[in-house]
Amino acid sequence: MKLLYILLLSLFLSSCRADPLGNFCNENTFINSTSPISGNIDRLLAEVVPKTPLTGYIATSSGRGPDRVYGLAQCRGDVSSKDCSSCIQDAATQIRRLCPNQSDARIWYDYCFLRYSKENFIGEVDTSFGIFYYNVENVTDPQSFNQELGALTNKIRSEAVMPKNEGLGKGKTKLSPFVTLYALVQCTRDLSEIDCAQCLAIAVGNFPNFCENRKGCRVLYSSCYVRYELYPFFFPIDSNNGTSFGKTVMIVHPKS
Ligand SMILES: *[C@@H]1O[C@H](CO)[C@@H](O)[C@H](O)[C@H]1NC(C)=O
Ligand SMILES: *[C@@H]1O[C@H](CO)[C@@H](O)[C@H](O)[C@H]1NC(C)=O
Ligand SMILES: *[C@@H]1O[C@H](CO)[C@@H](O)[C@H](O)[C@H]1NC(C)=O
Ligand SMILES: *[C@@H]1O[C@H](CO)[C@@H](O)[C@H](O)[C@H]1NC(C)=O
Repeated sequence: MKLLYILLLSLFLSSCRADPLGNFCNENTFINSTSPISGNIDRLLAEVVPKTPLTGYIATSSGRGPDRVYGLAQCRGDVSSKDCSSCIQDAATQIRRLCPNQSDARIWYDYCFLRYSKENFIGEVDTSFGIFYYNVENVTDPQSFNQELGALTNKIRSEAVMPKNEGLGKGKTKLSPFVTLYALVQCTRDLSEIDCAQCLAIAVGNFPNFCENRKGCRVLYSSCYVRYELYPFFFPIDSNNGTSFGKTVMIVHPKS
């Protein structure tokens, strides 16, 4: 399979939290501000912003007939409702700014994800568009690292598909007295267990392509999120033993 990888930009992890990790505007879904669907998107976002933080998730729709728009928003399962709320607010503002002329739009942050479309995508696995972030630094002992990473991701993937966990799995493994590996996976809550397992399998299956031997990596799909780092990044946050974050590079991976 020949894939086109576009190296877009490199950035430091400490960049402003209000900046999205990425967005996708489907150019084949042109609308403008006078299209009836545009009003439905505004109404959808007006519902999504206050309601998402209540449970960390919403799947809803706005309007009728051909101008109906479906929306989904979800926060990472470990973030507080306060952080969820500010993330969703940023997402709702930025998605309209970044994709003003598209009815299919998606935006990713570390703490939340927001998406809407005229197509009813609720309950469907979607890995057609992915964003990858990897640490440019490599681990020094790939063999044992990959073994530990595989064991940890398998464990948290099986947690994520358990209904009580609402798509979230997270955990850590001590690699040495001074080094701990942290990993988190999450599916959107509209997915069935089997679809969640499938999305996570595709994400982890892409590790060799994008994350091979890297000290950290993130895979962002419309249906699931996978991340691992050698520093604490999920709540409750462990105290960090001074591991440097390192430089992170982003890759956009469209389906070809
Ligand atoms: C959106 O479409 C309008 C025309 O309807 C155009 O004037 C504007 O430049 C477009 N914006 C972007 C960001 O493409
Ligand atoms: C906006 O789209 C409608 C069709 O949805 C079209 O009739 C109209 O000319 C467009 N307006 C602009 C400014 O592009
Ligand atoms: C990490 O490994 C990759 C692939 O082998 C290599 O291209 C890259 O330069 C390495 N990074 C560092 C910081 O040495
Ligand atoms: C940090 O280092 C101390 C020893 O200096 C160790 O006891 C502790 O478990 C480490 N914490 C993590 C999260 O690795």
